[in-house]
Amino acid sequence: MTFDVDKIRNDFPVLFQSSRGKPLIYLDNAATTQRPKSVIKAVSSFYENDNANIHRSVYELGERATIKYEDARVKVQKFINAEKSASIIFTKGTTESINLVAYAYGRTFLKPGDEILYSEMEHHSNIVPWQQVAETTGCQLKYIPITDDGTLVEDWRNYFSEKTKFVAITHQSNVLGSINPVKDIITYAHDKGAKILIDAAQSVPHMSVDVQNLGCDFLVFSGHKMLAPTGVGVLYGKTDILNAMPPFLFGGDMISQVGLQSSKWNDLPHKFEAGTPNIAQVIGLGAAIDYINELGIDSIHQYEHELTQYALSKFEELDTIKVFGTRENRGAILSFHSEFVHPHDMAQFLDADGIAVRAGHHCAQPLMERLRVPATTRASLYFYNTREEIDILVNSIKNILKIFSVESQPK
Ligand code: ALA
Repeated sequence: MTFDVDKIRNDFPVLFQSSRGKPLIYLDNAATTQRPKSVIKAVSSFYENDNANIHRSVYELGERATIKYEDARVKVQKFINAEKSASIIFTKGTTESINLVAYAYGRTFLKPGDEILYSEMEHHSNIVPWQQVAETTGCQLKYIPITDDGTLVEDWRNYFSEKTKFVAITHQSNVLGSINPVKDIITYAHDKGAKILIDAAQSVPHMSVDVQNLGCDFLVFSGHKMLAPTGVGVLYGKTDILNAMPPFLFGGDMISQVGLQSSKWNDLPHKFEAGTPNIAQVIGLGAAIDYINELGIDSIHQYEHELTQYALSKFEELDTIKVFGTRENRGAILSFHSEFVHPHDMAQFLDADGIAVRAGHHCAQPLMERLRVPATTRASLYFYNTREEIDILVNSIKNILKIFSVESQPK
């Protein structure tokens, strides 16, 4: 199938507007993606036709809502090739998924002297929950450093020890775009007797991810970075491990029996879904997966790879701009820095040209420290972006550099 971007763009109404008087160019997809009409329709159709609470009702509407919600779980299961739908827990996002594992696995099974290993390129959401686990349990935190090129050090195995009991690592950096060799890391972690969680927030939307092939114990991602509404995320876990973990939140639906003195827990996946979940958002995630499947995740990946390589070549025209990360093994994220223009100024001037990018530390302050910058400007792409948009971005940066170098000349 050829990748007809013009046709695809027609599915995204939000793209057809002007911003600051120019056609909007949306390049903040690592923060959140836009939604196609089919996802918007799935959510509004749920509210128009099917809205009821789930897992509780014998009436037809309630049954229909439950079926739609559980169908979405099966779509997620198939999308990441999980062995069972009971391995798929809906949360409100990647952050909550990691917190769930940190709380229910980390605080239960990690002991003083155990080591948790993460990397220098983690998002705060894959650092801070582990710091809390370390504080509560007395285990130690270790990290795998990165190279000046923005990849994990080649001798990452040396950062494991006999005490490493848990590894939490990103599949693809939200700043550098670097794709980590997670399959090797998972195999090695298991050889060392450690459990491993993969933060796939930036990979699942862009490439084929097969949890059985990877063999990870946990994998987490968010709906809103893959066309779905905000407020829905996924925790995949191996069912034997999830079964051994205590619940994270307590209340309705997660119980099988409640007495006035004690209670028993429901089976997976319900044990981890206390209270009324984000039903419409989960159904929206199912519609997002349908949309991605229609295009084909491999076609999406290939298109984005070519677009990223094109963007990297265009950025080479900007000799005073440093783009972080390597050319190989990278996703569609370009974080860049100029010593003459502060990233926030860069983002603001780009905004004046209708271009939406993110500037800041990207929830990765330890990584900023390693890169020796206070912040970066980040353009992050999705499959509805085009080469023309990249050309406009690069031309706009050229103009901004001109403005700043004129102003920075001594008078
Ligand atoms: N984690 C999201 C980002 O990288 C919000 O922008």
